[in-house]
Amino acid sequence: MTHSLKIALLGAGNIGVSIVNGLLHSKAYHPDDIMVTRRRVHMIENLADKGVCTSSDNIAATKASEMIIVAVKPHQAPELLKEISPALESDRHILVSTVTGVSIEEIRQYTENKVPVFIAMPNTAIALCDSMTCISHDKSSQDDEQKVLDLFNHLGRTLIIPEELTGAATVLAACGIAFALRFLRSISQGGIEIGFGSELSTLIAAQTLKGASRLILESGHHPEREIDKVTTPLGITISGLNEMEHNGFSSALIKGLITSYNKIEKIRKKDVS
Ligand SMILES: NC(=O)c1ccc[n+]([C@@H]2O[C@H](COP(=O)([O-])OP(=O)(O)OC[C@H]3O[C@@H](n4cnc5c(N)ncnc54)[C@H](OP(=O)(O)O)[C@@H]3O)[C@@H](O)[C@H]2O)c1
Repeated sequence: MTHSLKIALLGAGNIGVSIVNGLLHSKAYHPDDIMVTRRRVHMIENLADKGVCTSSDNIAATKASEMIIVAVKPHQAPELLKEISPALESDRHILVSTVTGVSIEEIRQYTENKVPVFIAMPNTAIALCDSMTCISHDKSSQDDEQKVLDLFNHLGRTLIIPEELTGAATVLAACGIAFALRFLRSISQGGIEIGFGSELSTLIAAQTLKGASRLILESGHHPEREIDKVTTPLGITISGLNEMEHNGFSSALIKGLITSYNKIEKIRKKDVS
């Protein structure tokens, strides 16, 4: 079933284009109900080829839509939000921001407190409708919350979280794609050293990661419970795993996550040099 919701995506960069591709991939929305903007509009010609309306006119896209998704960089957000503010109507629009480090309160100020505001933190797997999207809002109605959930549920899994966890969600889910892929690359490089060509090694590593994720997602088990099943006493797996831990495997990942989180906190406090 396709929805008749009219959607504007303002700021079609990495995550913006991924969201649009997800909307198209889901087949839940008509391409001609999706308005996409960026200033260098020639860089999204491929989306126009897929039937989406592309332009550099944020006001026109806002006026033509009901759900406005803002996906610009943090320093670009104030100007864009102030620009579209006059076109926002309280009984028509819902504003969803994917912008890191800009709070709901700040968005309300830039848009003169006219419309319901949501923060959504997806990841680039949204292009394949396999995102983990954490969503927060403060005083929006259940109806509006449901509309936002309906959209992002077409694009993967969703979770409503308190706004103060948005930074943590960004690190785990959005940065998490890069962390997981660097892990995958390392495993496949090891695979090359023990005998497989690059392509096969990457395939085996990627499918194994997918399977490992499903074991957790579908059972709800703690990862260590599944690890116990493959680490026999005196075995091969435990010897490799312990060698990784001697070299700081878990510690390096946790430290990396915390470093990313501290950087987000700096952006949130507008303390970025
Ligand atoms: N990348 C991710 O995985 C991810 C995930 C979750 C959240 N986020 C957050 O989402 C935001 C965007 O990230 P990104 O990685 O997609 O950045 P990006 O690739 O730089 O995309 C931002 C886009 O906004 C456009 N833009 C800037 N000012 C504009 C304006 N006034 N009107 C219309 N378009 C405008 C830029 O294109 P022009 O210069 O051509 O206008 C650019 O394509 C960031 O705040 C980021 O933290 C990212």
